[in-house]
Amino acid sequence: MPSPVIELHNVSYTYPDGTEALKNITAKIFEGESVAIAGPNGAGKSTLLLIMGGLLAPSSGEVKIFGKKIDGKMISNVKKMYEVRKKMGIVFQDPDVQLFSSTVHDDVAFGPIHLGMSMDEVESKVSDTLKFLGLEHVAEKHPYELSGGEKRKAAIATVLVSSPDVLLLDEPTADLDPKSRKEFVELLKKLKDGGKTIVIATHDMEMLPEIAEKIFVIDRENITEGNLRDVLMDEKLLEEANLDVPLVARLFKMLESSGLNCDEIPFNTDGAIEKIRNMVNG
Ligand SMILES: Nc1ncnc2c1ncn2[C@@H]1O[C@H](COP(=O)(O)OP(=O)(O)OP(=O)(O)O)[C@@H](O)[C@H]1O
Ligand SMILES: [Mg+2]
Repeated sequence: MPSPVIELHNVSYTYPDGTEALKNITAKIFEGESVAIAGPNGAGKSTLLLIMGGLLAPSSGEVKIFGKKIDGKMISNVKKMYEVRKKMGIVFQDPDVQLFSSTVHDDVAFGPIHLGMSMDEVESKVSDTLKFLGLEHVAEKHPYELSGGEKRKAAIATVLVSSPDVLLLDEPTADLDPKSRKEFVELLKKLKDGGKTIVIATHDMEMLPEIAEKIFVIDRENITEGNLRDVLMDEKLLEEANLDVPLVARLFKMLESSGLNCDEIPFNTDGAIEKIRNMVNG
């Protein structure tokens, strides 16, 4: 039985201006799980990720990360939090928050240097990560000089470079062109197969079936947990959360309502191909 990596029990969070972003949220994420957090704008997804990453302490309720209780006192203990945070990587929704050095290279090198890697190791990891994300040509640029998509990739690079056990990603595919998005999804699949725990806040319903097996649909004080199929088949829940069903599923639902019997609706292209093949072969 995998152990819980992140546990939230009755967690509420109120911002200093009085905005109650989360109310009585209970959720558990287990080691090796791939989880999506979906919900409308302003539902508290980013706030939830910041709490799950130990960057915000809950206003009330209990948070545990790797079994350690995270509260205001713990968060202000830099040494203890380092032990928690070094195993986690968070990609913020706003890349400008992530990038603070004077070059992309230095931003990507920051994590590995602070993990105590040798300079040779740092350079090799930075170079591999920049290459993988197609960012070598902007390595010496100031992050402010990047395009939107390059900035997003640079933010992702600063986290991937340290290979954290737990990845918390806030809208990571926003601004990515289709090819980059596809490559990123492939990478997430590999990381997931390699046993990493991945939590993604996203509106990207096409990506979701590729990587998430468990979904939390959140709206400030309501959190619904379900597996991919249960959530994607729950039209009322999706409508309330301003979410769409993936295109493939919409197509098969239309085919079903025009008389095609297809037992189980597929949610991604692989599933659709298998379904069509089975139907053609009888
Ligand atoms: N720093 C802040 N100070 C005050 N209120 C905030 C702050 N950050 C977020 N909020 C408020 O908290 C609520 C939840 O915001 P959050 O960013 O967590 O939502 P979200 O689900 O990530 O939305 P989106 O889909 O737009 O990214 C919103 O009402 C927002 O206005
Ligand atoms: Mg957000």
